[in-house]
Amino acid sequence: MLSGKTIILGITGGIAAYKGAALCSKLVQAGAKVHVIMTESAAKFITPLTLQTLSRNPVHTDTFDERDPSVVSHIHLADHADLIIVAPATAGTIAKLAGGHADDMLSTTLLAATCPIVIAPAMNVHMYEHPAVVSNMELLAARGAMFIEPGTGQLACGYVAKGRLAEPEDIANAVQSWFASSKLLAGKRVLVTAGGTVERLDPVRYLTNDSSGKMGFAIAEAAQLMGAEVTVVAGRTSAPPPAGIRLLRVESAQQMLEAVMAEYETLDIVVKAAAVADYRPVAASSSKLKKNGERLVLELERTTDILEQLGKRKKRQVLVGFAAETEQVAFYAMDKLRRKHCDLIVANDVGQAGAGFNHDTNIVQIYGEEGLIEALPLMSKREIGSRLLTLAAERLPQAGESGEYA
Ligand code: PMT
Repeated sequence: MLSGKTIILGITGGIAAYKGAALCSKLVQAGAKVHVIMTESAAKFITPLTLQTLSRNPVHTDTFDERDPSVVSHIHLADHADLIIVAPATAGTIAKLAGGHADDMLSTTLLAATCPIVIAPAMNVHMYEHPAVVSNMELLAARGAMFIEPGTGQLACGYVAKGRLAEPEDIANAVQSWFASSKLLAGKRVLVTAGGTVERLDPVRYLTNDSSGKMGFAIAEAAQLMGAEVTVVAGRTSAPPPAGIRLLRVESAQQMLEAVMAEYETLDIVVKAAAVADYRPVAASSSKLKKNGERLVLELERTTDILEQLGKRKKRQVLVGFAAETEQVAFYAMDKLRRKHCDLIVANDVGQAGAGFNHDTNIVQIYGEEGLIEALPLMSKREIGSRLLTLAAERLPQAGESGEYA
């Protein structure tokens, strides 16, 4: 399953470092080329020679121990890695990565890497639940790092609690399923809308909303990691757009409608994460409105419902809508799904802490025609994107099916 994949296994200084040997062995047996980087403290628990023997590659412990003058080791390793997994990951290394510190071979290589990073924490339960550690992990998750939760059981310090490194078998399986899903959308065209639309009153004033674009951008990044050709149609956003993704900037709901429709026939999956205005001013002034009188009454008219139009024209596309609600979430989600002929609806209660607008995280329930498919707990918008696109991929018409909407 991992043949041809280059994996960097980072081992840090906790008692679970000894499990790094079993994990290394499983990754090699699965066909991966494994390069091990150990922190100095990891080498106090297990020798580099053990990992060299298992990986059949030199083990790196010192940034300045350059054995091949033609390359800079930490850059060379980072550039050639398909995935980096840090297992066990101590609180110290998690903090270094979150803070962007690079004072040893592992943290330097992590900072130079552009490939996906998987972190398997292992530490005492109080450390694991310490606000600083929790905040570092949330920050890393928001940047797209994937975590493999520690298990609960006997800890080296005598506690029976959460904090044990996940079993090497489970970590190796998680790595393999990640690679399997990372080609799930190979050859597929995915379009995601993001951000809020801007409905102008005059050249200097407009109506908009709080959408930062983070949800749409996270879904686009997840689609890219899964091998898709990705286009983002973005309105007004405060978050930076993802690198290396085709970005079409628009302002108004009408412009978003036109941009999406122009691509629709060629698409396999459409995800409508944008917060599109339901109303716009009937008449936008070409010059700045002057203040006169105590009141200004605005007359607004409905915008075109883009999702509804996409539903009407759906052929083989998988159509994913969102529902931003503050009450009766299930009812409104299923109503939208049916009325707009969506394959999936992602509902979020935008009033919930950590959910909705501008957060790096969200809490969503994903609905299909059969009803609730999955209620996801608070997690990073990137993880939600991966989960959502996996469900969307399952709904792609199989080869030969027209997918024509009846
Ligand atoms: O961007 P973030 O800061 O990360 O915030 C994310 C989010 C809260 C914006 C996102 O999670 C979300 O809920 N997006 C949908 C917001 C919205 O417009 O929901 P709605 O229930 O009003 O619209 C339902 C669906 O119809 C949405 O897919 C929307 O894109 C679509 N729509 C709505 C109106 C319209 N004229 N055309 C549409 O296509």
